[in-house]
Amino acid sequence: MKIDLSGSLYDALKKATAEYASLIEKNDLPGARKKAAEIARFYHELANMNPVNKKESLERAAKWERVSSGKTGSRQKPSQPSHTETEKEEENEISRKASSLITTSNVKWSDIGGLDSVKKLMMETVVIAGLQKPESIKPWKGILLFGPPGTGKTLLAAAAAGSLHATFYDVKSESVLSKYFGESSKLISALYNSARDHSPSIVFIDEFDALSQSRDGETSEATRKVLSSLLTELDGLSDKKSDQLLLTLAATNTPWDLDTAVLSRFPRRIYVPLPDQKACKEIIKIQTKGMDISGISLDSISEKCVEMLYSGRDISNFCQQAIWTMIHTVNPDLYKMAELSFDELKMRNLQTIPLADDDFREAFMKIRSPITKNKLEQYEQWNIECGEV
Ligand SMILES: Nc1ncnc2c1ncn2[C@@H]1O[C@H](COP(=O)(O)OP(=O)(O)OP(=O)(O)O)[C@@H](O)[C@H]1O
Ligand SMILES: [Mg+2]
Repeated sequence: MKIDLSGSLYDALKKATAEYASLIEKNDLPGARKKAAEIARFYHELANMNPVNKKESLERAAKWERVSSGKTGSRQKPSQPSHTETEKEEENEISRKASSLITTSNVKWSDIGGLDSVKKLMMETVVIAGLQKPESIKPWKGILLFGPPGTGKTLLAAAAAGSLHATFYDVKSESVLSKYFGESSKLISALYNSARDHSPSIVFIDEFDALSQSRDGETSEATRKVLSSLLTELDGLSDKKSDQLLLTLAATNTPWDLDTAVLSRFPRRIYVPLPDQKACKEIIKIQTKGMDISGISLDSISEKCVEMLYSGRDISNFCQQAIWTMIHTVNPDLYKMAELSFDELKMRNLQTIPLADDDFREAFMKIRSPITKNKLEQYEQWNIECGEV
């Protein structure tokens, strides 16, 4: 049977379980067994879709398969997990999914070039949350980071978490909006409960605009539910223990898609711009760590990076490109070593020489920024109108 995936798998499971119960009620044992086989298939689907709880889903699938084949050990009616058990299971599944979003971050502030004022502001927020202070001084609960792609928004969130040794919840909007995960809005409360338990915590919501508006311009029911529980959490936090650090960082490339209800919960809206010349210099140094760049004209290369509208990500690719050019120049026969075993390779050194301006010149031709001047103006305009002064 082909399982219909258009709706939520969870809803389908719930429905099938209820149907199973009613078939048992009617003493329709062959029908109930058929239904049990269907439920088992749903659990197999779930196991494929949600690797985090794969083992449990497979165990439940096996259980239902036993019910469907009549090998339950009982000669009477096949049994089923009770209703409350199913609900409890669902709750556990949601908390497990919330915990699965916890990641560790080793990123340090020093891994980020430029963005000094943004870094300072985030450091202040974190410090204020930790210090003893009068009741009326409340740390920021939500910070919105906006700017062109690749400018370091994710990196900033990771550095904030890394420096604090905070529990870092890395939430991609699409992961909470998964159509197979019918209880998305419950996931948000489970996530914030977990974040409060594991404080200091940073909840990082990437691609935040996806929560505010769907691709076709219309907000789906699921999106609306998730957003409203998120807003409730952001509102509610101020009433709870204020000495806990629970910072929500949201990042977006399209701040103009966010509606006012969302924006009002993020009074701090920070523009993460393309790097200026000084920042480009720092990023080049970070991205060529361990290489000798003393011979290159860092000033003019960084100036050109600004002209090319490079983001931090572009500079990272640009430096990699320059490094590869140098590697190919000094190791023209590199590919021939593919014959060697890994152990033999480990005994040899990759030849390197100091990077030269020529390596970078070639890289400039290969790396193009995806951003245009018009787009930049749009960010700057939004920053003037809605950003932080
Ligand atoms: N300021 C920076 N300093 C050092 N490296 C940077 C900086 N900005 C970006 N990078 C490099 O570019 C990569 C991408 O940056 P990041 O993921 O933080 O960008 P982003 O702003 O979150 O992009 P997107 O909007 O596409 O999600 C980083 O992993 C890092 O290698
Ligand atoms: Mg990012």
